Amino acid sequence: MSNTTRVLSCMQPSGDVHLGNYLGALRNWVTGQYTCDAFHGIVDLHALTVTEKPGILGEQTMSLAAMFFAIGLDPDVSTIFVQSHVPEHSELGWMMQCTVSYGELSRMVQFKDKATKRENQFISAGLFAYPALQAADILLYDANEVPVGDDQRQHVEITRDIAIRFNHRFGETFVIPEAVTPVAGARVMSLQDPASKMSKSDASDAGCVYITDDPKVVIKKFKRAVTDSDTGEDAVRYDPDKKPGVSNLLEINAAVTDRSPETVADEYSQYGALKVDTGEAVLAVLDPIRERYEELMRDPGELTRLLRVGDAKAREVASATLSRAHSNIGMLPA
Ligand code: TYM
Repeated sequence: MSNTTRVLSCMQPSGDVHLGNYLGALRNWVTGQYTCDAFHGIVDLHALTVTEKPGILGEQTMSLAAMFFAIGLDPDVSTIFVQSHVPEHSELGWMMQCTVSYGELSRMVQFKDKATKRENQFISAGLFAYPALQAADILLYDANEVPVGDDQRQHVEITRDIAIRFNHRFGETFVIPEAVTPVAGARVMSLQDPASKMSKSDASDAGCVYITDDPKVVIKKFKRAVTDSDTGEDAVRYDPDKKPGVSNLLEINAAVTDRSPETVADEYSQYGALKVDTGEAVLAVLDPIRERYEELMRDPGELTRLLRVGDAKAREVASATLSRAHSNIGMLPA
């Protein structure tokens, strides 16, 4: 293992990429690729936990690949791969299921949230066992750091617990990873319901800003953002508990203009101006990404070629780690 920090993070191809994904995770992957050894996966097996219709997953995988390159991930610098093209994930995922307890999985907030949202619908066993597969994604690459949004911290914590338990049972096998979240944008909230995080499974589309949204739609969503009825002199201030809607706008603005939310707040006394300016600052970042994305989507052949390069590099690393796990357990060699 080299001294360079190994970074790994992944995203599900389960719908359009939104501003929360970008500010919480993707943006940091781009900056990280120049100082670290970066691996980023499109985790289609994870998306299977909620996939029930044929013919969609492959298209969504291509679309997410185009988005990865459009935001600035450089295929010559970062290793970009598709999870199902690296079969080691499924096998180590099973080993991780055998290293985590039912009780530990039952405490996962994301499972509880997703299961609640799917009330009266099919809830797969895969949705419950999901963090074991995520642990495999991380541990296969000897990742030191996992750049994610706040909602994924618990999954990285359980990965650490699983890795420590495995190393204890079978000897030093896995690197113990750490979650890394951004200062601003780690938890972008819905523009319509600032008590819940921005999410593609949001009840209202108006609360979620997609990277590929038409610019006019982006501005409209910001103009309609929920604030509050306080009209005092210091109505625009950063106070996530008492003023969640305004604080969310301040944090988004801060994230895209590289300032602190308090500094942004100092510039405003009215909600209207804050909303419009934040929408425009977000568009300044999204416009070039959307244009590159559209260009890349016109060339599926090139996207496939780029993914193949990443798949091969990922497999090389993943297969070495899986062999180490086999050998430390003492499984009979094939
Ligand atoms: P996913 O696909 O839901 O989201 C991808 C990334 O976006 C972040 N994110 C947010 N950040 C800030 N504010 C928000 N509102 C917001 N919504 C989403 C997520 O924290 C994540 O970093 N289980 C993972 C995928 C995964 C993974 C992994 C991640 C599978 N294997 C290995 C890291 C390492 C997930 O569902 O992310």
